[in-house]
Amino acid sequence: MVDADGFLRLIKTRRSVRKFEPDTVPREDIEKMLECARFAPSASNTQPWYFVVADDPADVVAMADAVAAAVEKVVAGIDSARGKKELDAYAGYFTFFRDAPAIIAVFMTPYRALLGRLLKRYTPAVGELIGTHASEQSVAAAIENLMLAAHALGYGSVWMTGPLFAKEELEGMFAPPDGYELAALVAVGRPAETPPDELPDRKGLEEIMRYL
Ligand SMILES: Cc1cc2nc3c(=O)[nH]c(=O)nc-3n(C[C@H](O)[C@H](O)[C@H](O)COP(=O)(O)O)c2cc1C
Repeated sequence: MVDADGFLRLIKTRRSVRKFEPDTVPREDIEKMLECARFAPSASNTQPWYFVVADDPADVVAMADAVAAAVEKVVAGIDSARGKKELDAYAGYFTFFRDAPAIIAVFMTPYRALLGRLLKRYTPAVGELIGTHASEQSVAAAIENLMLAAHALGYGSVWMTGPLFAKEELEGMFAPPDGYELAALVAVGRPAETPPDELPDRKGLEEIMRYL
């Protein structure tokens, strides 16, 4: 069995890393991370995920360029100067991954388990409700497993949905299997920034839970 304290510490010390050393991430390590992603729970065990790994710097730069262009286009279309400025202030959070040694693109397919089909047929509203969230939650569990594995192996990572500004362009580059759409990008590499020692700012337990 694993050392429980060590595992709990691993969870609490994972922080988003946005600056990376240039070292490449050996594919063997990427596969260890994805091996953990693969063991995440999923609705009806549908495993609705697919991963495409980009570890050629030219591809990563092309992705960041596509996102920068998509953000620029949206910003240019905003007719308020304040709105432009406000959105533009976030742009860096969507494109900083330009220097990341590896990007793992996470794709998701809609929930199509037998249960989902039955619900859709006999109670469409419930089917819609359960189906919509089931795949998203399953994929999120896989991403968290992947990131914890990265942390355990000494890598930094960050989960990103901001790059979905360029969803179509990125899907064109990654060519996922039919029926899969881009859910997130995860940047991975040796960290070039040291997160502060103190634990991250989080709501207290008393704020986020109660017993019935
Ligand atoms: C669904 C999701 C989307 C995110 N998208 C981005 C993003 O586009 N860019 C970014 O820099 N960070 C992104 N993050 C990282 C969050 O900003 C980060 O997890 C949060 O601030 C807490 O910090 P921590 O990860 O260091 O604990 C995202 C995180 C999640 C879970």
